[in-house]
Amino acid sequence: MNINSNSKTLCLLGHPVSQSFSPSIQNHLFKKYNLNKLYVCFNVKENNLGDSIDGIKALGILGGNITIPHKVNVIEYLDWVDENSRLIGAVNTFKNEDGILKGYNTDGKGFVKSIIDKGYDLNNKKIMVLGAGGASRSICIELASRGVEIIYIRNRSIEKPKEISEAIMTNFDTKVSCSVDKIKREDLDNIDILINTTPIGMGTCECPIDEAIVPSNNLLVCDIVYKPHNTQLLKWASKHKLQVIYGIDMLINQGLEAFHIWTGIKPIKEDEDEIKHIYEA
Ligand code: ATR
Repeated sequence: MNINSNSKTLCLLGHPVSQSFSPSIQNHLFKKYNLNKLYVCFNVKENNLGDSIDGIKALGILGGNITIPHKVNVIEYLDWVDENSRLIGAVNTFKNEDGILKGYNTDGKGFVKSIIDKGYDLNNKKIMVLGAGGASRSICIELASRGVEIIYIRNRSIEKPKEISEAIMTNFDTKVSCSVDKIKREDLDNIDILINTTPIGMGTCECPIDEAIVPSNNLLVCDIVYKPHNTQLLKWASKHKLQVIYGIDMLINQGLEAFHIWTGIKPIKEDEDEIKHIYEA
């Protein structure tokens, strides 16, 4: 589909945005599904967010994504946010419905989709999440809304895990246990899924758990770090023949979820594979 006078725009608002993979994901899908839409990035500094939102309404931009540093602050400018975004306290996707801006958070949803796509059932599962920042919060809220039994949050400090715990325990049946203790083998014996949401391993070969641990059960190990693709944590997991999920899957799936919100089209597995090829090229 060629860009013409009828083309509609979607955008990313963030600072910085130059490294974003979102235009590659969305423009590929717009072309593939023959939609006369275009996705562009706007580099918006902190104090320009309000003006940018006014601009989106004035220009009739159809929707977009929100990234660092605006995911939390953007909420005050939106007309409505969905329940999970409200609990997460952050929005990464918005849709302009006839001038009404609606906010969503597809980070946790995208991550959970990566797990479900591998055939895992989350119901009554025991999950350990490393880290308690924004990504952890969106993943934990999504996991709780999918009926997991318990989430063990491990972090180097206790304040943020406690905040996530409170949000979950007052809104869902899922139990939460917070700790700053070092992870031992017995801790892993007791869980079904391990998820790293800390930046440990990003651009380095550090591992968020002690690599000398030999797990005795059949864990699923997930890392949201996607550079490098095969993080030290995932190498440790593969060495012990554990199933793994790569950070790139979550990155792509949060984009596919956003595409679905804007267009109503549910992307298929083939779309995910094509985008993975684009990323790897
Ligand atoms: P995001 O909000 O993007 O998820 P973040 O705010 O940097 O990322 O948070 C990541 C989490 O990893 C935080 O919980 C952070 O711990 P604190 O709550 O104590 O700040 C944790 N984290 C970040 N760097 C870490 C490191 N080098 N070692 C251990 N934990 C780390």
